[in-house]
Amino acid sequence: MIRAVCLLILTFLLSNSCANNIRKNFAKDGTEKSYVHDQGPFYHGVASGDPLTDRVIIWTRVTPEEHDVISVQWEVSLDKDFNKIKKSGIMSTSRVRDYTVKVDVSNLAAGTVYYYRFINRATYSPVGRTKTAPAKNPSEVNLGIVSCSNYEFGYFNAYNGLADQDLDAILHLGDYIYEYGPGKYGDENFPRKHLPPNELLTLDDYRTRYAQYRLDKGLQKAHQNHPFILIWDDHEIANNAYKTGAQNHQADEGDYGMRKANAKKAYYEWQPIRDTGNDELYRKFSYGNLVDIFMLDERFTGRSEPPADKAGAKEERTMLGAEQLKWFKKNLVGSTATWKVIGNQVIFSPCDLSLVRPDDPVNLDAWDGYAYERDDIRSYLIDRVIKNTIFVTGDTHASWAFEVPENTIDYKESGKSCAIEIATPSITSSNWNESSPDDQVIMAEKAIQSTNPHLKYINGRDHGYTVLKLSRDKTIAQWFYTSDIKQKEAKISMGKELTIQRDRHKFSN
Ligand SMILES: [Fe+2]
Repeated sequence: MIRAVCLLILTFLLSNSCANNIRKNFAKDGTEKSYVHDQGPFYHGVASGDPLTDRVIIWTRVTPEEHDVISVQWEVSLDKDFNKIKKSGIMSTSRVRDYTVKVDVSNLAAGTVYYYRFINRATYSPVGRTKTAPAKNPSEVNLGIVSCSNYEFGYFNAYNGLADQDLDAILHLGDYIYEYGPGKYGDENFPRKHLPPNELLTLDDYRTRYAQYRLDKGLQKAHQNHPFILIWDDHEIANNAYKTGAQNHQADEGDYGMRKANAKKAYYEWQPIRDTGNDELYRKFSYGNLVDIFMLDERFTGRSEPPADKAGAKEERTMLGAEQLKWFKKNLVGSTATWKVIGNQVIFSPCDLSLVRPDDPVNLDAWDGYAYERDDIRSYLIDRVIKNTIFVTGDTHASWAFEVPENTIDYKESGKSCAIEIATPSITSSNWNESSPDDQVIMAEKAIQSTNPHLKYINGRDHGYTVLKLSRDKTIAQWFYTSDIKQKEAKISMGKELTIQRDRHKFSN
């Protein structure tokens, strides 16, 4: 009771201090046209993320009408009706952090579902649901895997479907937003157009784009129902980005370092990511002794400029960089978890595309362009006998299932593999059959499989998401596809399921 009274007094004091800072003309950025009036001031919903055994991040954004500094109360409860509130507090927010609210709620119980909400001026946010990581050994861990949601290609129906799955967490592998201006990369016949109406460069540009994407109902529901564990790919900054530049960053667009800093600040403001003060985003999560999750940063920590051609891919260049690679190896070999899930942005497995792209036979933006470091990791997995490693991958707007070969050339004979790779389709970003007829795409899929015997499944024609069900003796990978992205309503159905038995880097149906 005393605690509640103190919170009320603090709320009152903070609200009054705000009154000194009335901003009469609060800037509108165009996204307000998509607000659902009844949800104000929490138009962008709620989110949670980075679950540990005793803490989780909760997030919201409160859209101001007149105040520069806003106080927001938060509550975390064991029940949906908030009769069993376990933690509560008040946070103030302002334009300095784009009116986002992020709380690292601590001293929680492990492996427990919690509900959370925010309160501003007696108005309640939607109720979010989250879950802490288990301390002991869970019998099963279910992870959603997603990437590549472009606002101009369609509605985020796959996120909506994923929200209804029974999950411990959602791993987002990047391309959460796209940096292009309207009409530059999207379906010109689809009514949704990017805001701001230009390519993202400034801090306000990036903030507005997150604000626009987070108004999609499917994305809001996914955030509301499950904790996210996110990593960025290139489009959170600019296409085919690396540490010192990007394909889509030109000299007349200003300083690249400044653009990266703007993109990063907006990302940390808008995503439920723990801000540790450490400058690096790569990090690890543990789900008891069953699963360790490694989220790798393959863009900004240590990625060299990509090679100009296939011959250059063999040169000594880095995807992770020395520090991150050292951290990754040390934690991989030290892991006592049965399964090691690697949050990976671009395809790790060798992939020969010579039959479908004779002039451009390997994807130089993927690990094939950084074969020197990829082969170092492959050798490490083999030499240290590290088992049950599963790379989960985004980026390609297609579904893939690889047995990562120990040796690419003799795999056909030996069948030896050192890891598994599961790649998730895009939420909406362009499938291959959106620029070529279906029958040509099916022929291309077959051609790619013919030159890559370690590739066990490929589908470049469907949007959706992947679910990994990890248990003591096996992992089941399920690909779910959406019937439509151009309509707001869609059916979601499972299109493929593959099983990986423990200690075997092989698929079975
Ligand atoms: Fe993408």
